[in-house]
Amino acid sequence: MTSGIKLAPSILSADFARLGEQIREAEAAGADYIHIDVMDGRFVPVISMGTPIVEAVRRVTALTLDIHLMVAEPEKHIEAFMDAGGDIINVHVEAATHPHRIAQQVRARGKRVGICLNPGTPVSVLEEILPEVDQVMVMSVNPGWSGQRFIESALAKVRRLQQLIDEGGLRAEIEVDGGVTPENAPRCAAAGADVLVAASAVFNDRASVAENMARLREALSRVERGA
Ligand code: DX5
Ligand code: ZN
Repeated sequence: MTSGIKLAPSILSADFARLGEQIREAEAAGADYIHIDVMDGRFVPVISMGTPIVEAVRRVTALTLDIHLMVAEPEKHIEAFMDAGGDIINVHVEAATHPHRIAQQVRARGKRVGICLNPGTPVSVLEEILPEVDQVMVMSVNPGWSGQRFIESALAKVRRLQQLIDEGGLRAEIEVDGGVTPENAPRCAAAGADVLVAASAVFNDRASVAENMARLREALSRVERGA
């Protein structure tokens, strides 16, 4: 059954001049989370958005705000993003010197913590931290931009992670981020993804947010988990 797959539209491809409206459209179309991509020009080459945007989004929706911190030294910023209204705080394992401490800090505030893996980072690096996190984000593009092509090797990582989670009886959910489309969403789900992030497949000029979300849901309805 994949009816439980969550969709997390990323506002990185939204029309920022009418952000509130775009979020309401995504919510009406059944979004589970709103994914917010924070980039600092250091961990990734570009700068995107910060806490003022998270506060603004928090005012227009009660949906879970999934904060993706693509920043160097994330420990310096996690409190600010929780204060701004973030519900899930995701940090990159490549950027966090003390991911275990970050996990404790986030969970002490009753929030959820996620750990993210770049395409070139092996799953094995998570061995010790996996029991401490609520979510693992497998990047299926190199972080920095929306609209990039899905990297297929991410699916094998999702399968390996699912196996580790099952073997350990752990709670972590698997999120796939980058290049997700109705074409590859079923394969992500079959590999073990619980949450799919999508920016350009949801917010684009080709169709409405409602139509794009419906396409993703329709594609997912045809998947057998574990197939
Ligand atoms: C990439 C971001 C992604 C991005 C996804 O750096 O972390 O969340 O917005 O964009 P699409 O879905 O267009 O690949
Ligand atoms: Zn992201």
